[in-house]
Amino acid sequence: MIHKQPILVWDVPTRIFHWLLVICFAGAWLTSESERLQMIHYAFGYSACALVLFRLVWGLMGTKYARFSQFIKGPREIISHFKGMLGSYQEASPGHNPAGGIVMLGLMAIILLIGLTGYWSVKEFLGDWMSEAHEVIASLALALVIIHIAAAALMSLLQKENLVRAMVTGKKQGLPEQAIRFPQYFIGLLLVLGWAYCFYAVLTGALPSLTQ
Ligand code: HEM
Ligand code: HEM
Repeated sequence: MIHKQPILVWDVPTRIFHWLLVICFAGAWLTSESERLQMIHYAFGYSACALVLFRLVWGLMGTKYARFSQFIKGPREIISHFKGMLGSYQEASPGHNPAGGIVMLGLMAIILLIGLTGYWSVKEFLGDWMSEAHEVIASLALALVIIHIAAAALMSLLQKENLVRAMVTGKKQGLPEQAIRFPQYFIGLLLVLGWAYCFYAVLTGALPSLTQ
């Protein structure tokens, strides 16, 4: 039997995307109530949407486990994943599991929806109704994030592998031939620069059509 060893699964852009998204989401929540911090709220919110837009592209052309085709599965595979969780079960692939894949997509979609309702709130489209919708959808997203964090903790225990650390280091237990070959540092650097530019441009009001 070949022993599993730490192999590279998450490329650099996927990890940077994740942890910048965590910062943006937390930042947008912490600044949502204050009028004084309004521009910071917009900067976190819009730059979170920019991250998701990048991730949608990366889901089509990124490395193996970053691709949607690797983790968007049909209902049959999702059901067999849950059934498998009851026994002593090991995922066949070191990427996202089939149930997680759907939640990942849901989280990305809901961030875009928060951004859109935020934009329409600024434009006073449909008045108070739109800012109510923005707040309700943001609360739904928070609930989903809490479920997501709980699921990451639970799956870490079940699989006896720290999945949160894997999102930091990029490494998971697997067979050498399952590893991705290129960490994609350069694309990671471009992502950080693009995100920082977007944050700065919104913060300083350089994109007035988005913030006024
Ligand atoms: C401190 C809080 C968080 C922790 C510990 C955490 C942990 C994780 C882990 C372990 C994974 C990989 C799951 C796997 O192994 O299959 C993951 C993926 C993901 N998480 Fe989180 N997460 C956190 C917060 C968030 C937040 C706030 C969001 C969005 C608002 C988010 C969105 C996502 C998305 C979209 C993915 C998929 C990553 C990709 O394929 O690019 N997470 N998270
Ligand atoms: C991850 C992204 C975001 C999250 C989690 C979020 C969350 C929230 C929350 C919870 C509130 C309600 C604050 C209260 O209690 O009054 C709020 C208010 C607001 N947000 Fe966001 N937001 C995000 C992105 C955005 C974006 C991109 C914009 C666009 C400019 C925006 C514009 C606004 C505005 C204008 C309000 C005030 C609405 C009002 O008149 O009450 N937000 N946001």
